[in-house]
Amino acid sequence: MPENHDFSIVVLISGRGSNLQAIIDAVQGGEIPGRISAVISNRAEAYGLERAHAAGIPTEVLDHKRFPNRESFDTALMARIDDYAPDLVVLAGFMRILSDGFVEHYAGCMINIHPSLLPRYRGLNTHQRAIEAGDDWHGCSVHFVTPELDGGPVLLQGRVPIEAGDDAERLADRVHVMEHRIYPMAVAWIAQGRARLVEHRIQLDGKPLAEPVIQTLDD
Ligand code: GRF
Repeated sequence: MPENHDFSIVVLISGRGSNLQAIIDAVQGGEIPGRISAVISNRAEAYGLERAHAAGIPTEVLDHKRFPNRESFDTALMARIDDYAPDLVVLAGFMRILSDGFVEHYAGCMINIHPSLLPRYRGLNTHQRAIEAGDDWHGCSVHFVTPELDGGPVLLQGRVPIEAGDDAERLADRVHVMEHRIYPMAVAWIAQGRARLVEHRIQLDGKPLAEPVIQTLDD
């Protein structure tokens, strides 16, 4: 695969940034052919900003509370992001609902990781909901972002078992292991040009993807 350090990635975060760290590590390790041009947070105290600093990545903070409404924040955020001319916008624990205009602006080049096996458990408290439903399996999904919340086409899923005695925290820890594995993998596939969205459908290696690619802890 040819090196493609021109592939520009902007990562949006709100908190801990462990997925950001996994992507930083994969860029530094050469698994993702690209560069993280900037990390932007809507919270000044987000620990992920320190991770970015440590890796020498430019950071910006844009506090949504300083804007009168969602549209004005999203418009300002778009301008900041577009300064870096990204090929891919990566939502990594960015805890904001995005306006349709924002989502359409990055159609086909914005991805998110969600802690469930979509289409199950869109929204919050996914680990608790999966335990309460008595599911055998849980996990995480990397999907292209569309205006429907957690509803865009899914590229890759990481599956983990739900074990007897699991509480939401223990299960979340197991899901995080998979998140940190599949998110860099998905970013790499897009940076390599292997995965893309064509007319609302994912193509992988030039073929329509009928089902998400599945990874398990044993893979
Ligand atoms: C992850 O659980 C991810 O699935 C969800 O937000 C969380 C972010 O965690 N979208 P981190 O900030 O990457 O550690």
